[in-house]
Amino acid sequence: MYDTWEELEKSIENCKKCKLGDTRKNIVFGVGNKNADLMFIGEGPGADEDEQGEPFVGKAGKLMDKAFIGLGIKREEVYIANIVKCRPPQNRNPEADEATACMDYLRNQVLLVKPKIIVLLGSVALKNILGEEYGITKARGNWIEKNGIQYLPTWHPAALLRDETKKIDFWKDLKLAKKMLDEIEKNN
Ligand code: SF4
Ligand code: URA
Repeated sequence: MYDTWEELEKSIENCKKCKLGDTRKNIVFGVGNKNADLMFIGEGPGADEDEQGEPFVGKAGKLMDKAFIGLGIKREEVYIANIVKCRPPQNRNPEADEATACMDYLRNQVLLVKPKIIVLLGSVALKNILGEEYGITKARGNWIEKNGIQYLPTWHPAALLRDETKKIDFWKDLKLAKKMLDEIEKNN
């Protein structure tokens, strides 16, 4: 683990620790406030993210941005990262060996950001962070505390594009996260 962002960012340059390194255009490291109380973890870059080197800039990201505006959260106030930093071909789910190979970068990001709240976007984030025993349908909308961090699983924003009705849950869950954030910040 690295103590500084500079070292961590340097360590990921040209990473080929897994096969996603062979097909990506850009590594999508993460963006936002490096001291955020609220962090979001997605699955992995899609085509737009691979092009631009930034997480959640495509269709799913636009939905997140809308939710942020509705909640009064500025995108640059939070930190956003993914389980894998390189795009899986055809946007397939990251495979277990890829997620494992990439996990130390994410762990290090969490250690440096020190968020109080982590919103887990979808099943891949949930299972890789909290364990395979969790299922997103049951876990979403429920707080899970682990090692001093409050985790809130919710739908992946791309799921909202396939099923509009999930937008209601997603909105409800993000409101919960915002409420918790406001409480934590009030007590500081
Ligand atoms: Fe390295 Fe992660 Fe990209 Fe795999 S997905 S090549 S481990 S940065
Ligand atoms: N989906 C993700 O999981 N992450 C992104 O960065 C974009 C889409």
